[in-house]
Amino acid sequence: MTNQIKINRIINSFDKEIEVSGDKSLSIRCVLLASQAIGTSKIYNLLESEDVINSLKSIKKLGIKFKKKKNYYQIDGYGINGYTTKKKIEIDAGNSGTFARLILGLLVNSENEVKIIGDKSLSKRDFKRVSEPLKRFGVNIISKNNRMPVKIIGTKYLRPIEYYEKLGSAQCKSSVMLAAIKTPGKTKIIAKKSRDHTELLFKYLKMPITILKKKEYDFITINGPSNFSAFNYKVPGDISSSSFFLVLAILSTKSKILIKNVNINNSRTGIIKILNKMNAKIILKNKKIYKGELIADITVSSKKNLKGIICPSRLNSSAIDEFLIIFLVAAKAKGVSIFRNLGELNKKESPRLDIATNFLKMIGIKVKREKNNIKIFGNPNLKLSENYVIKNFRKDHRIFMMSCIAALTFGGMWTIHDSDSINSSFPNFLSELKKLGAKIN
Ligand code: S3P
Repeated sequence: MTNQIKINRIINSFDKEIEVSGDKSLSIRCVLLASQAIGTSKIYNLLESEDVINSLKSIKKLGIKFKKKKNYYQIDGYGINGYTTKKKIEIDAGNSGTFARLILGLLVNSENEVKIIGDKSLSKRDFKRVSEPLKRFGVNIISKNNRMPVKIIGTKYLRPIEYYEKLGSAQCKSSVMLAAIKTPGKTKIIAKKSRDHTELLFKYLKMPITILKKKEYDFITINGPSNFSAFNYKVPGDISSSSFFLVLAILSTKSKILIKNVNINNSRTGIIKILNKMNAKIILKNKKIYKGELIADITVSSKKNLKGIICPSRLNSSAIDEFLIIFLVAAKAKGVSIFRNLGELNKKESPRLDIATNFLKMIGIKVKREKNNIKIFGNPNLKLSENYVIKNFRKDHRIFMMSCIAALTFGGMWTIHDSDSINSSFPNFLSELKKLGAKIN
C-alpha cells in the first residue's frame, strides 16, 4: 500500500450519522489504571490505535496480562505494586507523549530500571516537564538533554511533593497524580486548568483525592498510598477525532452530520465554544453523565456566514488538540481571527503552530505570526485550484487529517504523504470520510 493519498475534488453534500472511535486520553488512562487496579477490569470501546496498542504492549512488558475479548479488553491488575520488572526492560511508547509521560508516574516505585523509547517525533519532545516533578518524589530519572530514551529507576522511599503545574498540561498533572497514588502522605498539586479525566477516574475509583476548583487553577490533594479495585468502563467517542468531521460539515455545502456518544467534558470542548462564537451552530443532544464524564450526540450543518474570532486564551487548553482544524474555519471566515499564547502547540507531535502558519500561507491566506500568537485574515471566497503537496510533517496525525479536510472543502489537487500517521489516533479516519462520499485515492 502506498503511504500517500490524493484528493482532487471537494466532497459532495452529505447528511449522515457517524461514530468516532473511543477517546484516546481516556483509553490510555483506562489501560494504565486497570494495570494497577486489584482484579480484572473490562474496558469496552477501547480505541484500537497505535498509541493505545503501544500502551497495552508496554504494560505486558511490566508483567500485566491482557486479553482482547469480543467487545472489550480484559486487563488483570495486581495493585499499585503489581508491576514486575525483574531485569532492565525497555518499553516503546511509539508516538504517544501521553502514554510516555503518564507511565513515568506509575514507574516511580519500580525496583529495576525501565527504559522508555519512542519514535522520531516523540524523541524530539521534552521530558523535563515530567522528570523534574517526578524526581522530587525521590526517583532517579536519566535522559540526555531531557529527550528520549528516558530511564527511570524507582524507589521504595517515595515522599510526597508540592507541585505547581503552570503549563496547563494534563499530561504533567496526571503523571504526578499517578505517582501520588503510590506515595505515602499528601501530594499537593496546584494545576492550571487542563483536561480532568484523571481526576474524574480517580473519583470514580474512590481514590483519596480532593479537588478545589478556582477560576484558573485547581487545587488537588492526593493522600496516598491507595490501592483501588478493578473496574468496567465504556470509553466514549473522541471529541478530538470528531472535530475533523464537524469542520468538514461546517465548511461543506448543504451538509449535515450527527456524531453519537461523544465525550463532551467541559475541559475538552473549547472547539465547540470557539466554533459557535464564529457562527457555527454546533448542537449537543441527549446529554448524560457516565462515570463522571459528560457525553452527548453532536450535530452541525454547513455554515456560510462564519465570522472571525478574537479567541480568549482561557479556551486554549480545552481546544489544544483542535487548533489546526479551527484555523481552517478561520481561513474561511469573514474578518480577522486572533489566537494568542499558543506556544504549547509547537511542543506537540510536530511544531503545529509553525506548520499551520506555513500551511495557511501556502493556500493563499494572509497570516501574521508573532511568537506564540497568530492572526489569520479570513477569506469567505476561498477556493483553491492548484496543486498542493503535504509532506515532512513528522507524521503528525492531526496535520494529516487537517490537510484532508482542507482538500475536501477548499478544492485543489492534493497529494498528502504519510497516511499511516492516522494510526496513532484514528485508524478509521479515511474509511469514515469515504462513507460520507469523499473521493480519496
Ligand atoms: C493529553 C493532554 C494534552 C493533549 C494530548 C493528550 C492527555 O497534552 O495535547 O493530545 O491525554 O493528557 P498536554 O497535557 O501536554 O497539553
